[in-house]
Amino acid sequence: MLRPTYPIDTARLRLRPFRPDDLDALLGIQSRDDVTQFLYWGARTRDAVQTALSERVRQNVIHREGDKLILAVERRDTEVLIGDVNLVWLSRDNRQDETGFVLHPDHHGNGFARESAEVMLRLGFEELELHRIIGRCDGRNTASTKVMEKLGMRHEAHFRQNEIVKGEWTDEIVYALLADEWKARQSRRP
Ligand SMILES: CC(C)(COP(=O)(O)OP(=O)(O)OC[C@H]1O[C@@H](n2cnc3c(N)ncnc32)[C@H](O)[C@@H]1OP(=O)(O)O)[C@@H](O)C(=O)NCCC(=O)NCCS
Repeated sequence: MLRPTYPIDTARLRLRPFRPDDLDALLGIQSRDDVTQFLYWGARTRDAVQTALSERVRQNVIHREGDKLILAVERRDTEVLIGDVNLVWLSRDNRQDETGFVLHPDHHGNGFARESAEVMLRLGFEELELHRIIGRCDGRNTASTKVMEKLGMRHEAHFRQNEIVKGEWTDEIVYALLADEWKARQSRRP
């Protein structure tokens, strides 16, 4: 069970549950081809974003295996919603989760994905007491692999053409971090 106290502030960001009035901001992100290029889904219409948002406003607690925590990421300086970050409870018995992140391109290149995903790792390891957290992406998604490396995650696998995404055979890359590795990393921090 994971029920964080919101909002969660980092140095530059505020993570909070999605709200119904986030529709325009979320549409501004999810309707872009450059954002969805390496995701399982394509650019979304307003109706599709409305459906996604209706689910997101409830996805701020993890009760059971399969539950997904998806938080809105806001810049604290402007209060603009710049993306989202998530944690999915993959296995209760094996204490494993998956994390992921999506940011508006106007806000790339500032370290915001790493800063928000660090919160997911902390919640997963320190509050949900997980053993292992993974991140997966399309083999071509170098921006995503760089974030995972900066998070201290290890490259574990590169599956060649293991799935058909948007009609073409696609590679999948897997990164992972163990609880012990997370603790060692935290203890080395200034
Ligand atoms: C994946 C994604 C979130 C990465 O965004 P990003 O802006 O590249 O990642 P970060 O926010 O961690 O920023 C890292 C960059 O900021 C730079 N940076 C600038 N200031 C920084 C700071 N204070 N701290 C850390 N990094 C900083 C880093 O050097 C790095 O630049 P580089 O890539 O040229 O080396 C983004 O490309 C995206 O939303 N893509 C579309 C959705 C997607 O594919 N998501 C992943 C699904 S698996």
